[in-house]
Amino acid sequence: VIKAIASFERTLVTGTSRYDRYLAGTTRLTPSETRGMNLFFGERAECHHCHSSVNFNDQLVYAGSRSGSRPFHNTGLYNIGGTGAFPEPSTGLFGFTGKASDMGRFRAPTLRNVGVTAPYMHDGSIGTLEEVVAFYAAGGREIKEGPLAGDGRANPFKDPLISTIVLGPKDQTDLVAFLRTLTDRRFLTDPRLSNPFRRRGGG
Ligand code: HEC
Repeated sequence: VIKAIASFERTLVTGTSRYDRYLAGTTRLTPSETRGMNLFFGERAECHHCHSSVNFNDQLVYAGSRSGSRPFHNTGLYNIGGTGAFPEPSTGLFGFTGKASDMGRFRAPTLRNVGVTAPYMHDGSIGTLEEVVAFYAAGGREIKEGPLAGDGRANPFKDPLISTIVLGPKDQTDLVAFLRTLTDRRFLTDPRLSNPFRRRGGG
């Protein structure tokens, strides 16, 4: 069964999003999507440093890949009581190493089909893509009250790249437009990849 599942997953290759078709020269992006793309791969939004590979994560290593050597990052989502802490049970790499500096460090997930995979982040604590991008523009998330209160922007273990992100309101709209070009409708609705146990006509 393990082998069967692994074989099935290898057939789950998405490559016909609008962005892929743009790369193949068979479609054009809108001006807003194009600006978003340039921001994504540029040094003002910094996204590509962590979401750079063909899968828009940083786990794939291939000739010419731009990924760094530290594939776990604290994005400043929490800073409980100013200690840098993330809420249990999801403390990121820290949960495995017990090293303080690994608190809140997570892998950058793929951004393919991200337009249809809300809610976001490891605990689903951000509801929309607009809010994710606003979160990056702010350099982290401040939680003002309650048991999780703390200013994630000042998390001592935050990846320094997050603080260098500079995005105005229009930049944020353009970035979201670009992220939505990564949705692959054909892949998501391919009947060969859907539930084989569901009979025609429901059930
Ligand atoms: C320092 C590395 C880093 C940078 C720079 C970065 N990200 Fe991320 N990104 C991450 C990590 C790590 C996560 C997962 C965090 C978590 O699960 O708590 C993430 C999560 C996300 C998610 C949520 C994905 C999901 O399925 O939950 C989106 C969307 C996203 N990033 C977009 C962007 C955009 C757009 C930029 C540029 C403005 C950007 N990221 C810059 C590391 C980074």
